[in-house]
Formats: sequence, C-alpha cells, structure tokens
Amino acid sequence: MPALAQTQTQAATAAGRLNYLFNFGWKFYLGDVPDASAAAFDDSAWRALDLPHDFQIEQPWDKSAGEARGFKAMGVGWYRKHFKADAAWQGRKVLLDFEGLMLFGEVWLNGQKVVDIDYGYLGAEADVSKILNYGGDNVVAVRASTGKTWQQRWYTGGGLFRDVYLVVKETVAIARNGVFIRTPQVSEQRAEVAVQVELDGISNQSLDVTLLTVIYGPDGARLAETRTRAPQGIRLATVEAALPAIGIKAPKLWSCETPHLYTADISLLKDGKLVDRVSEQFGIRTVEFSRESGFKLNGRKVFLQGIANHHDLGALGAAVYERAIERLFLQLKAFGFNHVRTSHNPYSKSFMRLADKHGILVVDELTDKWSEREYWPGQKPFSQLWYRMIPEWIKRDRNHPSVIMWSLGNELQMREDYAGFPTGDWGVTTYKLLDTLVKRYDATRKTTVAMFPSRANGGVRGTPEFNTKLIPPELSLVTEVASFNYQFPAYQAYLQYAPHLIIYQSEAATSTLTGAYFGMDKDKMVGLAYWGAVEYWGESNGWPKKGWNFSYFSHALEPFPQAYLVKSAFSDMPLVRIGVVDGVGEQLEWNDVQVGKVSVSSHWNRASGSQLNLFTYTNADEVELLVNGVTVGTQQNPRNDPARRNIIYWKSVAYGNGGQVVAVARTQGREVARHELQTTGKAAALSIEVEASDWQAGGMDLKYLKIRAVDGQGHPVPTAAGDVTVEVSGDASLLALDNGDHSTNELFTGKRTTLHNGFALAILRSGMAPGVVNVKVSAPGLASAVKVLRTDRSPPLALA
Ligand code: GAL
Repeated sequence: MPALAQTQTQAATAAGRLNYLFNFGWKFYLGDVPDASAAAFDDSAWRALDLPHDFQIEQPWDKSAGEARGFKAMGVGWYRKHFKADAAWQGRKVLLDFEGLMLFGEVWLNGQKVVDIDYGYLGAEADVSKILNYGGDNVVAVRASTGKTWQQRWYTGGGLFRDVYLVVKETVAIARNGVFIRTPQVSEQRAEVAVQVELDGISNQSLDVTLLTVIYGPDGARLAETRTRAPQGIRLATVEAALPAIGIKAPKLWSCETPHLYTADISLLKDGKLVDRVSEQFGIRTVEFSRESGFKLNGRKVFLQGIANHHDLGALGAAVYERAIERLFLQLKAFGFNHVRTSHNPYSKSFMRLADKHGILVVDELTDKWSEREYWPGQKPFSQLWYRMIPEWIKRDRNHPSVIMWSLGNELQMREDYAGFPTGDWGVTTYKLLDTLVKRYDATRKTTVAMFPSRANGGVRGTPEFNTKLIPPELSLVTEVASFNYQFPAYQAYLQYAPHLIIYQSEAATSTLTGAYFGMDKDKMVGLAYWGAVEYWGESNGWPKKGWNFSYFSHALEPFPQAYLVKSAFSDMPLVRIGVVDGVGEQLEWNDVQVGKVSVSSHWNRASGSQLNLFTYTNADEVELLVNGVTVGTQQNPRNDPARRNIIYWKSVAYGNGGQVVAVARTQGREVARHELQTTGKAAALSIEVEASDWQAGGMDLKYLKIRAVDGQGHPVPTAAGDVTVEVSGDASLLALDNGDHSTNELFTGKRTTLHNGFALAILRSGMAPGVVNVKVSAPGLASAVKVLRTDRSPPLALA
C-alpha cells in the first residue's frame, strides 16, 4: 500500500504539525452493510471516489420519496479508506478531522469506533493515536445516514460532503479551533488585537512552553509580534492562554468593499524548539447594532441586502467545493447583495473563509428547530447535544470578520415544548441558556432567533387576533436583535409596543419583490434576507419541481429578470431590464406565507402576431419602450408606491414578426441606461463560454462552462432544446452536467443532458497534475464547439 503522500493526498507541513487533506482515494457503497466497520472487511468491489461526495444527489428523482427532502430516497452510505501510517508519527497525536457528515453517522479506525458525528452540519475530531498501526496498513470506515425523512424540511444530501483532514501534532499542541482573535479597540489610528490560544497536553507538567505570535498585514508585511510563556502546572487538560494585546497602527479596516485580511501566525515553542504552528486570518472592523441606525460597520450605516438559503450548491448537491461558493458570492455581489443568512445550519468552513475574502456579511445560524421530534436532524435529542454543538460552532467561526451575528434557531417562539426544555415561556429561558454558552466562547457578537408567526402568546395566523393585536412575540423582546421572518408591514406597530426593538427581516418573501425592501425603515432597521433567492432542492410545492423555485436565480445561478429588479433597488448604478411575461404564474400559501412568481423571461423569440405583457425594471425616472424603432410610450417609475417602485408594466405590446424591443431609461430627461432584446434565428451551432477564474490542479478546483445554442450570427437561441453531449479529455473530469431546469427529471451525472432554454452548464473538476484539458460539446444537427483549457500548478495548501 502506498504511503499517504503518494495516494493523491495533499499535505501541508509546518514544523511539528502535518495536515493531510484526506479527501482522495475512498471506497463507497450505497446501502447499509452490517460488518463494513470491521478492519478485515473486503471492500475491493466498492466504487472508488474522491471527496467531497453527496450520495443522494446521484440517486434517481423519486416522486414517492416526497417533496420535503427533494424527491430523493433516504438511506445509508458507507465509506472506507486504506492508508499507511508513517512510523515517524508514533508518539505524536494523530487526529482524523471531519468537517461534517450528512446527516449524521459514526467513524471507525481499524474496526474500533472512534467518534459519533451526531449533528452533521458541524464537524468532529477523532484521536486515533492509540489505535493506528504505525508503519503499517490502516483503514478508516464511515457510516453516513440521511436519517428519517421528517428530520429536515429540505434537501440535505448524504455522506462525506465536506473536507476530511488527517492531522499529526505533538502531544503538546494548539487545540482544535483553539485560536480566538478579537480586536477590542479599533480606530482609524490604531487597533488592538487580542489573541487567546487554547493549548492541549500541558496538564500537570512543568514545561518550558512559549507562544510566539506574529501579525502580518493584508500585504503580507510583518507588523508585530509577542512572546509569552504558557501557563505552567495546570490541572486542566486544555488551557486557554490570553496573550498580551498587540497594537496595529493605521489599520486597514475590513468592509464589504475593502475586505482586508490580516494573519495571526501562532507558534508554540517547547524548550525553545518549534512544536506547533497555526495561522488564522482575521479582519479589523467594528460592528454595532442599535435602535437608531440598525447596523453599522466601522461606524457607517450598512443595510443588509441578503439571501436566506440552504447549503446546497445546485447540481453538486450538498458537496462543498470552494469554487462553487465563490461563484455564488460573485453573482450575489454583481447584483448588489452584501449578506447571507446561513439558514438553518452552519455552512462549510470554506464558505466563511470566502465570505471574509469577498466582503459578505453573514448571519451564522445554528439550527432550525430546538426539537426532540420532527425537524430535528441530530442523532440524539437537541437537549443532549446543544452544549456540545455551540462550542464547536462558535470556536469554528468566531475569527471571521464576515460573521456579524449568531442566530440560535428559526421560528421557535411557539415551539419550546419540542425542545425538551420544560420552561414553557415561549422560548425565553431556552434562548437565555443558549446565549450564555455562546457568550462563553464569543462575547463580541449579538445573538438572535428568527421568529414567525410573529405575535405574542404564540399567535397563529388565521386567528381573529392575529391581524388586530400586533404585539410582538415574547422572545423578540429579549433577543439582542429582533429577527422576524416576513411580516414587514407589522414592524411599525411592534415598535409602538416595544420601541427598543432592533429589527432584522430574517426572511423576506421573493413574491413581495422589492416591496419588502422599500417597506422597511431602512435608516433604523438592520436589513433583510430574501428567502430562497437562489433555487434550492427540497421543500418543493409539488412534483415535478424538485425544490424551492420562487427565486431570483436558478440553481445554476442564472438570474431571472426579477434579479435585475432587486439590483435596481440594491445598487445606485442606473439600469433597466425588460422581462416578458410567460404566464400568469402562481400564488399560493406556503408555511402560511404568500409565495409564487409571475413567470418572466428576457428574450424576443415569441409567436408571430402575439400580444405580450412586459415589465421594465428600472431605478431611473422613466422608461420609453420602442418596438422596431416605433415608440410604444413612456411611463414614469412609480417611486412613491413602495410595492411597485422600480416596476413599470406594459400591457398588450404587439410582437408582430419579431425584430427588436428596446427600453430606454431616462433620469432628468437624460438617457442613463438601455436594454434591448433581439429576435434570433434558428439554432445552428453550440458555443462554450468559459467562466473567468483561475483553475488549479490538485483535484479540488472546478471550472464552469456555459453551453448555449446559437444562431448563424452567434446570438443565443433561448428557445433551443435537444440533447447535448460533453466530452472531456486530459487530467480533469466532468463532475456534473446541468441545464438549470429545476423541474428536471435528469440526473447531473453522465456526459449527456438536454438544453433548457438553449442552455446547459458543465462543471469540470481538476485532476492532480497541471496540464491541458480538452472539452468538446456536440448536439445533433448543430455544429460542435471545442475549448482547450489548462489547469495550473496548485499553490501549497494552507494550514487548516
Ligand atoms: C419559513 C421557514 C423557512 C421556509 C420558508 C418557506 O417560514 O423559516 O425555512 O420553510 O418558510 O416559505
């Protein structure tokens, strides 16, 4: 058996510590196998794969599996990985670090159980030092279960969906998630950085242990350092050492526009010798919540313009790849969003890292319900896990400048009985208990709980009092920020009753469009997060829809025209966008909220002679619409009506035989933006648009290719359908093939799909070695397209 470093496993080393990315060379079996945890079990017939992996997304769409979990069957999957343990590791600490496991499961090493992962949205570490066969063969076995259908209300995915690391440390070392960096004082002239380090292995010993901290600036310059002697003779297994504060002159503040990141490099020296080293990024910024101005970042008012979504990444299912997250952030930013609420569970570590890098403000959420019964994804009851979940979660995420608030749950004020807490006071005591534990590990951020239906005494929609007694729920009176799902028209009445409330709309209905945004007091309130603004799997309102699709972006991140309406509100940049009404759409009640979407698309390939209804979305004063150069009229932006602001409706516009429709937006009589749609011809060929990004070899990076049917002039044909085949050669693989259709019955595996609205999306995964990758896309009756791509040598792995 080859040694780890040769089994396509990347390692990053720092003196004393080895971090092996343990994602490569696993075996997988779908189904439960009674003795698969045994060391001697024969897995030679199992499928070989690399992580991250979501075994549910590969399974057939199954109507009978139900809409909540995305029409995928529940089940169990087993993973095994064989590896050789280096003899030189003996006497040190060897850990398996799992970043998560959907939905929960167990881990064995050489047949011995080493850890239970009871809440799979958070990770766990297994100390395998005493079980390893040093210098010989070892096998790790993982059982992953999706749990029962009723355990979540949306698609979760299944399996080893995030990174796994094998870590080798000295017995005296920095603990897992053991570095806490705060900036207790921040001004433009000076910032104070306070670092606390948790140490393992110094109990009952008198050792000469020193901590050396070096701070590097955003440009990599060495700025400051401190040297501290670690506490001695401590009886605790783990000790938290507070290091002397470090001053930084003229700090570069972290903000959405300038997400500057500093690095703290902490070295642990024993008897003068380096035994461990950890690098953590952090930002210098202040956050402030108040009744007067909602939220301020670095003393400046910022209104949260966000989405509240689940963790899946479209065709990849729940499997986490950094590039897929980066792509989401870039698209959100391009449309003026600055915020994500990670409903209703902690997302990946890479999500937080990339939010730091791209200046996205995160409301970091622990769970949906505090429950022992339905909607609880834990392997054990919430009442037995919360005190383990909270430290793991807070210690993992507390150094991220992007994280501005902790959310302890969702829609709970009437559900306390579910949680196994017998306090019976509308969640108030439960919240306070959880909040105390959060503050133990991070007292720098406020906590909240999202609430709905939002009335006192467990007020439920449909009762006569609900619309007449607008009294906010008890829990909102004690949470540090009052987070309400929907209900924005009630907020002023709540403030009459409780003027101290700091209000955040933790879910806004996409069907209310920008009415939810303009309907808030933006000067005084914190912000809003559009629920399901990106299509997600599960929580479908009926087959063949595979998930929530009342969204502004498809699951492939293609914007629907309404995304431009949101952009017109979120950004000052003048814009106009035409959306042609395809159908009346649907309005329906879902979880007591009116949802739905008028189906609108942006193209001018319609039936000859049709009369079309159009929207133009604009933030300009007025729009003139012209068809084939002839004016249809000019209409004003109804700015004074918060529900219709930026929306202009055009009824019965004659399409004729097609041609061109143009919207000209003017402010103070001057053209500030225009949008035109042109009728295109018959599909003649395929085209490939390679999304701009670097592409690293090393097996973990992705490349997205947009495939479109085009006419003889190269213009996209949005009505084109039919099969496409994608072939990839070179050291890369086709990870998923998608077409953005949320009602698809196709899987994303394989090299064939159908065009949807003339579109398909190929997602390629890099191989280990840098080099040339050839891609060919073909379709019957259309000229094929080819691209020659290249993967670059991957940079050394950052120490996790
Ligand atoms: C909310 C809930 C979300 C989602 C949404 C759909 O009440 O918090 O998780 O179910 O409804 O409208």
